[in-house]
Amino acid sequence: MKAIVHDHYGPPSTVHLRDLDRPGVGDHEVLVRVHAAGVDPGVLIFLAGRPYLVRLAAGLRRPRIPVLGRDVAGVVAEVGARVTRFRPGDEVYGTTLRGSYAEFTATHERRLAGKPANLTFAQAAAVPVSGMTALRAVRDTGQVRPGHRVLVIGASGGVGSQAVQIAKAYGATVTGVCHPTKTDFVRSLGADDVLDYTHEEIDRDGPVYDVVIDTGGNRPLSLLRRALTPRGTLALVGGDWTRGALLGGYGRQMFGAPLLSTVVGHRLRAVSARDRVDDLDELRDLAESGALTPRVERSYPLAETAEALHHLADRHPAGKVVVTVSGPQT
Ligand SMILES: NC(=O)c1ccc[n+]([C@@H]2O[C@H](COP(=O)([O-])OP(=O)(O)OC[C@H]3O[C@@H](n4cnc5c(N)ncnc54)[C@H](OP(=O)(O)O)[C@@H]3O)[C@@H](O)[C@H]2O)c1
Repeated sequence: MKAIVHDHYGPPSTVHLRDLDRPGVGDHEVLVRVHAAGVDPGVLIFLAGRPYLVRLAAGLRRPRIPVLGRDVAGVVAEVGARVTRFRPGDEVYGTTLRGSYAEFTATHERRLAGKPANLTFAQAAAVPVSGMTALRAVRDTGQVRPGHRVLVIGASGGVGSQAVQIAKAYGATVTGVCHPTKTDFVRSLGADDVLDYTHEEIDRDGPVYDVVIDTGGNRPLSLLRRALTPRGTLALVGGDWTRGALLGGYGRQMFGAPLLSTVVGHRLRAVSARDRVDDLDELRDLAESGALTPRVERSYPLAETAEALHHLADRHPAGKVVVTVSGPQT
């Protein structure tokens, strides 16, 4: 099969297309013929091996798993002996730890769910990592309820564009923060109000938000807290991973927020994505009800994965970037 591999850590230009054997399947694994695979900042972090902390999981000197990509949408090609939930031919979406920028990937059946019937493969591939993170931020960390006021920073990005829609589905009034070139896009996601960060800061209206979801990662905790109601919740999703060799921009959520949270009235929490079938099922329900429509800004064929990675590395997508691999995308 064709696959996009990286043999050492580096920039997007280090990846190349190579012929590999198809992965074998373990007893609980499913072989998926990949139709599309999402691109997210986590892939850039594994590609660069930075911040260095990531190498504890990815391989100290060189990448342990050469194939890149985590999100996948495709069709089941083969199932392991003890797989009960899928059969060949099923349309699925989810995640893999064995790389999805390839014609086939294998993954544990607990990382997959039935693909939303109304989405294309490219749209479905845009959901898993970003959508599960957005869902955790809104539902679990933010505990968003009808009537809450929610601020989403980075509302135009992969996580933010889905967090806006999920918060609306949970009954919130949502303000999105974005660059002025994206205000129409963020309104089209359903945001009730949009704040252009080149002209206004997030504390423009005072301490009015019950929940602030920060995917931008470049504002101090003091400024983020000024936008929160006295008992409000700050859900920290992102940091600038290019800043700081060891921890990237993630020190704030790993250390700063948990420490400060013990002495202030606000709940300050880091959001950590987990791959859960239940969450994929809920996201499918949201998609099929029309509440969540993943926006694919651009898709690239497998051979042009390096360009897709370059595009995301600029940090200003409008929605998601996707790699398309084989089969119909509709
Ligand atoms: N905690 C977790 O488990 C988890 C899971 C997934 C992702 N993440 C992290 O969450 C962050 C966002 O992920 P993503 O997939 O949404 O990334 P993305 O698709 O690249 O979007 C990033 C967004 O950040 C905004 N942005 C870029 N530079 C900015 C700046 N200087 N000030 C304010 N906003 C800025 C951009 O919006 P504008 O163009 O409008 O500025 C863009 O929409 C990343 O740091 C990622 O690593 C964490």
